[in-house]
Amino acid sequence: MGGYRALYQASLDDPERFWMDAAREVSWTRFPHRALDDTRPPYYRWFPDGELNTCANALDRHVDHGRGEAPALIYDSAVTGTQRTYSYAELLDETARFAGALRALGVGTGDRVVLYMPMIPEAVIAMLACARIGAVHSTVFGGFAPHELAARIDDARPTVVVSASCGIEPSKVIDYKAMLDAAVEASEHPPRTCVIVQREQLPCGLIPGRDVDWNDVMKDAETVDPVPVSATDPLYVLYTSGTTGKPKGVVRDNGGHAVALTWSMRHIYDIGAGDVFWAASDVGWVVGHSYIVYGPLLVGATTVLYEGKPVGTPDPGAFWRVAADYGVKALFTAPTAIRAIRREDPDGAWVREYDLSELRHLFLAGERLDPDTYEWATRQLDIPVIDHWWQTETGWAIAANPRGVEALAVKAGSPSVPMPGYDVRVLHPDGDPCAAGEEGVICIRLPLPPGTLPTLWGDDARFQASYLCEHPGYYLTGDGGYFDDDGYLFVMGRIDDVINVAGHRLSTGAIEAVLAGHPAVAECAVIAVGDAVKGQVPRAFVVLKAGAEGDDLPAQLVQRVRDEIGTFACLRQVDVVAALPKTRSGKILRKTMRQIAHGEDVAMPSTIEDPDVLHALRPVLR
Ligand code: COA
Ligand code: AMP
Repeated sequence: MGGYRALYQASLDDPERFWMDAAREVSWTRFPHRALDDTRPPYYRWFPDGELNTCANALDRHVDHGRGEAPALIYDSAVTGTQRTYSYAELLDETARFAGALRALGVGTGDRVVLYMPMIPEAVIAMLACARIGAVHSTVFGGFAPHELAARIDDARPTVVVSASCGIEPSKVIDYKAMLDAAVEASEHPPRTCVIVQREQLPCGLIPGRDVDWNDVMKDAETVDPVPVSATDPLYVLYTSGTTGKPKGVVRDNGGHAVALTWSMRHIYDIGAGDVFWAASDVGWVVGHSYIVYGPLLVGATTVLYEGKPVGTPDPGAFWRVAADYGVKALFTAPTAIRAIRREDPDGAWVREYDLSELRHLFLAGERLDPDTYEWATRQLDIPVIDHWWQTETGWAIAANPRGVEALAVKAGSPSVPMPGYDVRVLHPDGDPCAAGEEGVICIRLPLPPGTLPTLWGDDARFQASYLCEHPGYYLTGDGGYFDDDGYLFVMGRIDDVINVAGHRLSTGAIEAVLAGHPAVAECAVIAVGDAVKGQVPRAFVVLKAGAEGDDLPAQLVQRVRDEIGTFACLRQVDVVAALPKTRSGKILRKTMRQIAHGEDVAMPSTIEDPDVLHALRPVLR
């Protein structure tokens, strides 16, 4: 582990030097004098006196260096049959123009812009345009229903929302505009203006005085220059699921983010200028932010924006077709996508249809990579399959196999080793360190490295309560796991109520809040159960209020979750039960329910209030 080990140790021994060196790969309008501001623990800031513009780093810098004609963005839409390549000069021109349009609509530095977009180039352009004028974007995954979009609008309080008339799923066209209208209607802090990209598959009506057509604002817009902002100013807010129904607004700064992502592209993904990198995710998730939009562009690579699915658009060869067509050097997706492909193409016949000679690595993250899926992908592709572990909060990998530093041996089931700046520790609940092989709570000693969340949007108290209070001096990841004797980390799953459905992060608490809102429901519990393709899916157990009718209630509750959270939550099974197992202090024993549902042998918890309730539930859970 020579190269990696020395680099990692250097990052912990002298973080100041390590990250100042890394900062030299980024263009600053004012180069920082120091890396870390640690004067206000547990709040840390990176590059406190640095000044830069992230959009200028992603676009202008490459054009200025004579790479204007190099491809920046390849849009491949399997659902509409469209392909278009934007050079760096073209992407810069459209971005600078949309930045001008936003400014003309009254968006200033520090103002928020919510994006509710399908996977179209305008989504990337709008994000970069916000960065250009120092506005803070908050991109909301298009699968979220109006209620969730409204909650994010109310928290971010945007001046403008950018959306599209529709999104296209394999079997249907999704009316984004109807969802946007419902969300704006429901929100207490509606935006002044909505900019709408009209798509020919389902054009929409515009509300006079509020809505404007993307093409119209672009026609009259002047291009604007990048606005230098402080390294510590927010670049974006990305909402993610916590353990309660209220989403957490993860804040990303400008300076630390640019430095960390630039470092990660070269050292983890082995990608630089001229390489083609494809993150098959969605711009609404953190993988989309970091590795569809910012990471590849920061290093002058070509990024692929794919509108489609791994299967069904039109076949399980879709990923290999895109990888072959554009000479993709590294593909990054979620294990669930590989499981979906494998289910339809178990022998890899579609893999062999395409020339994948340019493809060097398959990177997987977003959920646990089960050894079976790892083995299958390795066998079919015959390239290193690299698991890496991270979260919306960190923005880049906490643990990985840094292919640009050293090709460490891969161990199935492990995302390998901690990345620079992440002092990862596995702790017992009482805070004592776990020995190698001993499972505990995975924590990271503060400060976290650049690029990670400095706080939650407008809520320092929740930031501290969620991540920093459990083990003072450490960031609580919410995942459990262990180190083996070789220092490889094994991440075994969440220790809280966050679940992962097809790589999409959801909170069982949020689903419970929706179920509890039904007038017939007295109480409920949602747990995650295993699913062969999606990894996990939610399952709900509800107790009715006295006198309430239960006949078609499960169907009503399934529909309620689809309407209020989104169809991607995939709640399909709701059981009406007589009672839920609780402790004597009234806490529902969700962990015990989960263990029984997973077929584990569970002893009767000593704190249980009524053992008969659990006995009665066992056959339903199994
Ligand atoms: N906008 C609107 N609706 C969306 C959506 C979006 N962006 N994405 C998904 N949905 C809806 C689908 O239309 C579907 O609705 P339905 O129940 O009415 O049919 C529902 O959400 C579930 O869709 P999906 O999660 O795509 O499940 P699936 O069973 O159709 O396909 C997979 C399974 C594995 C192919 C698919 O989940 C997938 O591509 N997963 C990879 C996800 C990923 O990339 N995650 C993040 C990576 S880091
Ligand atoms: P998200 O914030 O949506 O990226 O989800 C983060 C969560 O997904 C983590 O806390 C883990 O529970 C899970 N996760 C992501 N990547 C991995 C991985 N490589 N191995 C295991 N779990 C993962």
